[in-house]
Amino acid sequence: MCGIMGYTGSKEAKYIIIKGLSALEYRGYDSAGIGIYNSDEDKVNICKCIGKVKNLKEKAEKLNLTGTCGIGHTRWATHGGVTDENAHPHKFGRVTITHNGIIENYEELASEFGIEDELKSQTDTEVACAVFAHYYDKYTDPMKAIYKAVKCFRGTFAFTIIFDDIPGKIYAVRNVSPIVAAKTEHGTMLASDLTAISLYAREYLVLGEYQILVLSPDDIELFDIKGNPLVTEYQKIDWDTEAATKKGFPFFMEKEISEQPEALKNTLEPRIKDGLPDFTYDEIPDEFFKSFDKIFITACGTAMHSGQVGKGLIEKLAKVPVETEIASEFIYDEPIIDSRTLVVSVSQSGETIDTLTAVKKASELGAKTLGIVNVHGTSIARASDHVVYTNAGPEIAVASTKAYTVQVAVFYLLAAKLALVRGLMSEEECREFIKTLQSMPSAIRKVINDKDEVHRISTKIVEAKNVFMLGRGLDYYAILEGSLKLKEVSYIHSEALPAGEIKHGTIALISDETPVILSITQEKLAAKEISNAKEVKSRGAIVLILMKDGIELENESQWDKVYRLPAAPDEFMIFTVTVALQFIAYFTALDLGLDVDKPRNLAKVVTVE
Ligand code: G6P
Repeated sequence: MCGIMGYTGSKEAKYIIIKGLSALEYRGYDSAGIGIYNSDEDKVNICKCIGKVKNLKEKAEKLNLTGTCGIGHTRWATHGGVTDENAHPHKFGRVTITHNGIIENYEELASEFGIEDELKSQTDTEVACAVFAHYYDKYTDPMKAIYKAVKCFRGTFAFTIIFDDIPGKIYAVRNVSPIVAAKTEHGTMLASDLTAISLYAREYLVLGEYQILVLSPDDIELFDIKGNPLVTEYQKIDWDTEAATKKGFPFFMEKEISEQPEALKNTLEPRIKDGLPDFTYDEIPDEFFKSFDKIFITACGTAMHSGQVGKGLIEKLAKVPVETEIASEFIYDEPIIDSRTLVVSVSQSGETIDTLTAVKKASELGAKTLGIVNVHGTSIARASDHVVYTNAGPEIAVASTKAYTVQVAVFYLLAAKLALVRGLMSEEECREFIKTLQSMPSAIRKVINDKDEVHRISTKIVEAKNVFMLGRGLDYYAILEGSLKLKEVSYIHSEALPAGEIKHGTIALISDETPVILSITQEKLAAKEISNAKEVKSRGAIVLILMKDGIELENESQWDKVYRLPAAPDEFMIFTVTVALQFIAYFTALDLGLDVDKPRNLAKVVTVE
């Protein structure tokens, strides 16, 4: 969604901010802008336009935007269409701001403050800016103005604020939407996520909810909302700048698919001791795993798909009942939860607002909470009782790939741990299970080395309008994710179905123009699924099969394409089939000439409900 970047120091702010905004482009946006304080003119000059940061850069080159302090923004429209006027920063009186989030009561505020006729945009942000300006005029004290304004807002926000007559200083305040800040050799900066900051710094601090951050060229100060000073604590950025570059791949998505063996190792190895699952790395004691009788898994999008795999596995191995519920539903439902319930939330970004709200609700209901999160120090991690950080490194492509695989891996460790502490698995069985899990990086590597072969499947679907994916058991969970991936990046409609369900309606849509992808990796379900493959084949479908090596398939040449996955025990086949499905989506989008990393309308980090 929206991205924020701010800088104050001794260098030209324009270049630093635009570079930071480019690093944030992956979040999804439709317009961009910067506001730079010019000391000669004693005012903030603004440049903003719709489209990519590249457009902003070209426009900014032509304007006099010199200055060493400024703020920038990439916008994903919520209130008000995609227009130059609605892009940020917004200026009202002596105040210039950028904003992530939504001010829900902006219409009431516009009328309460009598500013309706003065607004130039349709945004909630400009109204918020006017509220800041009103209180700044009234008190001429920035801290008091922020405190008073924030008390008026209902909704979520991360604001960066510069005042015309306070040169060199940037203020920030937030509720829900994230802000991180860092010192560099030549100044200080803040951003909505670490990707922008990691270009310049190795340490950062996280702005807490309802805290105020004040950036000067050589210092960062932190205050509570009433202006009392707070201690600043810095954390290390645990990945290098290189990790957020394409490293020679045409797209981040391909790079991130290819990084999965490493990402898996990095997530698994710290949590395996003496061949057994061990969560001391995450400071989770063994007793914790006995302290609940029921699990809820909540998440959005791809993260939810990993949760569905987790449910299947935990119920099978540890016999603990698990419910899964999409976070945006969970928060408005009445889930049956108490102190003997564990609510597991899953999130790559750690900032998805629905998932965060679900965690807060779970805590209010008395449940224990565990977050499976990729980005350190984020809101979901902070709101959870315990966190298991997936060590996937930065994921830049909007379509999630490596983050999903490591989330799945954490569920394998959790399921094994639960089964072990509850006496449903012997140490020996558990060691065997973990050993197979540890062999998954090399199994995945084989599929990666085989990507040209997988690419041939894409060539059979590139012209399709609709694709269906079928699977049974664990294969069904795999295709749910595979189907989402295809939709996200290729814009081809795709539907995943339990293979047995195809007869109950959807088969009406099968014709000789319809590709059907079947994932057949579960030995005991294979015969049934091959029958389903025949049912669609006899209706003319283009049948493409991903199949575990060793499962018998008569007359292989009758199918349009069969790709054999390296054999592993059934419950581990999810890893390799997932990678094959990710490549199918990727190559389809690539062959269609699409911008694979930044699919239309999508955002990497979804901070609005
Ligand atoms: C967005 C992203 C998806 C992601 C989902 C949940 O829709 O485009 O790739 O799966 O949000 O995000 P999270 O960061 O919570 O895993």
